[in-house]
Amino acid sequence: MTDIVIISSSIRDGRKSHRVALFFQQFIKSKGYETPHILDLKDYSFPLFEERLARMTDPEPKWEEFAGRINGADGVIIVTPEYNGGYPASLKNAIDFMYKEWHRKPMALAAVSDGPFAGTQVIMSLQFTLWKIGAWTVPARYHVPNVDKTYDDSGRSLNPEITDKLAGAFVDELMWCVQAKQKMDESEKS
Ligand SMILES: Cc1cc2nc3c(=O)[nH]c(=O)nc-3n(C[C@H](O)[C@H](O)[C@H](O)COP(=O)(O)O)c2cc1C
Repeated sequence: MTDIVIISSSIRDGRKSHRVALFFQQFIKSKGYETPHILDLKDYSFPLFEERLARMTDPEPKWEEFAGRINGADGVIIVTPEYNGGYPASLKNAIDFMYKEWHRKPMALAAVSDGPFAGTQVIMSLQFTLWKIGAWTVPARYHVPNVDKTYDDSGRSLNPEITDKLAGAFVDELMWCVQAKQKMDESEKS
């Protein structure tokens, strides 16, 4: 069993990048893996950062549940929109909220835009933040241009001959790193 979680980062009313989170949930399932759980930041209402979860005296149970999901995951996909060349505050908040949960976590990044440039700028800043916090960002990226024309509301791809090939390579790379990490964890135990 491989436990992949997908973080859907946009909490914007009328958001469209969530379609890509739904797409990956279905796509990974269709490849015979366990169905990934979507951690939708809209559901968690993280407070504007004042302190890390581990140091909070009375955190909401759902925030602890979120941290537990990340901690237990074999790998994480972050689906992020590009806002003014960066990633949304909702995502930065969630990243800063935790610490050890991200350590050496294999993570693959999917960037979404409603324009032609496919969120190419957001990856740099997000990757740097994840590197700083000790996550293992895998050398695979998934870029979605013109999200309106690429996915429908339910996450169905409107160009499957293109998206399935790219998504396949993206997921393969993540799974390779997940397996490499599992082997290292096992060898450290023995
Ligand atoms: C505040 C804001 C800033 C944005 N900045 C960019 C940008 O820098 N580059 C880009 O390609 N799209 C930008 N967009 C458009 C997003 O790509 C678009 O909203 C897309 O649907 C993904 O975000 P969503 O999941 O919130 O819908 C911006 C959108 C908002 C709301």
